[in-house]
Amino acid sequence: MRHWCFVCCVLLLAAIVGVGVGVPLAIMEDFIASPQERLTAVQKILREVPLVDGHNDLPWNIRKFVHNQIQDFNFSSDLRKVEPWSRSTWSHTDLLRLQEGMVGCQLWSAYVPCGAQHLDAVQLTLEQIDVIRRLSEKYSHALEFVTSSQEIVSAHRRGKIASMVGIEGGHSLGNSIAVLRMFYSLGARYLTLTHTCNTPWADCSSMDEPGQKTKISGLKEFGLRDFGKKVIKEMNRLGMVVDLSHVSVQTMKDALNESRAPVIFSHSSAHSICNSTRNVPDDILRLLSINGGLVMVNFYNYFITCNESASIGDVIDHINHIRSVAGVDHVGIGAGFDGINFTPRGLEDVSKYPNLFSKLIEDPRWSTEDLKKLAGKNFLRVFRRVEEVSWNFISLFLSLSPTLLSSFDFFSQKRMHVKIYIN
Ligand SMILES: *[C@@H]1O[C@H](CO)[C@@H](O)[C@H](O)[C@H]1NC(C)=O
Ligand SMILES: *[C@@H]1O[C@H](CO)[C@@H](O)[C@H](O)[C@H]1NC(C)=O
Ligand SMILES: *[C@@H]1O[C@H](CO)[C@@H](O)[C@H](O)[C@H]1NC(C)=O
Ligand SMILES: *[C@@H]1O[C@H](CO)[C@@H](O)[C@H](O)[C@H]1NC(C)=O
Repeated sequence: MRHWCFVCCVLLLAAIVGVGVGVPLAIMEDFIASPQERLTAVQKILREVPLVDGHNDLPWNIRKFVHNQIQDFNFSSDLRKVEPWSRSTWSHTDLLRLQEGMVGCQLWSAYVPCGAQHLDAVQLTLEQIDVIRRLSEKYSHALEFVTSSQEIVSAHRRGKIASMVGIEGGHSLGNSIAVLRMFYSLGARYLTLTHTCNTPWADCSSMDEPGQKTKISGLKEFGLRDFGKKVIKEMNRLGMVVDLSHVSVQTMKDALNESRAPVIFSHSSAHSICNSTRNVPDDILRLLSINGGLVMVNFYNYFITCNESASIGDVIDHINHIRSVAGVDHVGIGAGFDGINFTPRGLEDVSKYPNLFSKLIEDPRWSTEDLKKLAGKNFLRVFRRVEEVSWNFISLFLSLSPTLLSSFDFFSQKRMHVKIYIN
């Protein structure tokens, strides 16, 4: 009898340790000892799965430095040696370094400043989408402009870096759902609901700064208004990813309740490690896990350690924290290069992502499959789900009667109403 119990225990233990899902590479292949061997293992992973980075601000720097005149910009050159890039602490990206960093898909930010809100934000955003498209076209030997999860995978298989557009800030819509639809048709596949300014329909993260809610008299926190909920509904219908980096905690909660599809944080880290309002609190991480979404970890030192210096280990602390609260299916990478001016030691530019994976590969908690999820599988899962939700809308749409169909443009009628409360 006792012997039988012992056998059961051993079998149980073997099952817990050994079962396929998560045998850590460090245990399974303990020959991975030298830095070169670890790098080789990382390179194999990143050849199999595209490394997807959620946010890069190069397009804004192209505007600032060369006024979007891409004939004056050589993306194939080493920008560390070319003025004015070489002088800027905000420049971390060129083609050679993206290739060295084994980036498989870059979500480029079509960002315009909040100062353009209610002015020329729509025009400037169009110009930023234009520069991303022209750049992808001009360097098509290395980049491929993509708009779907399938295109990301196939571009990566062909050895190209998939280039996709994300719009950073709801102010870019000019309070028009029609503009949202047109951004989608130009290739934009995510919209960050706010940047650093509230829109008339969504609060941004500065509302969560101490004293902020009472400081601005008459400013009441509301999260997402009715129009904001319609924006999310239309994004779900189109197949556009809802991005909650930069929004207030109340907006996060409202959006998570509203969206039928998983959402992302394209470039945010963990609030319980560094209490910047740009980071994601634990209660939201738990909701995100239910939603099926993803936090893509930002590398900005001030979001990592809350001060100007940070190391790879500090970034890994955020990744592990998000993993332990939300789960390994809900963490990714969104460094924010070219939009930050203090980067961690060892993660100075887009060539350095393999350093991060080489360090994680030493950690027995991180199996090969886990590392693939972090690199790109999680983003691809979220994006596929967003696409599926959109197809479900299409089938719902087709099942509606013609009269209901024609009333489907109620968004544009609502616009009058929106105008009223903006004024
Ligand atoms: C861009 O830089 C690369 C690498 O330095 C060089 O080979 C190429 O000729 C340059 N292209 C132009 C148009 O100057
Ligand atoms: C973060 O924590 C520090 C110290 O605990 C506090 O002074 C600061 O107000 C907090 N910041 C935010 C944004 O909550
Ligand atoms: C969540 O969404 C549902 C359906 O849209 C709505 O009825 C409910 O009031 C929302 N809950 C909260 C807490 O906003
Ligand atoms: C920055 O924060 C980290 C982590 O909290 C700490 O170890 C380090 O000493 C801080 N550095 C500075 C310059 O304040």
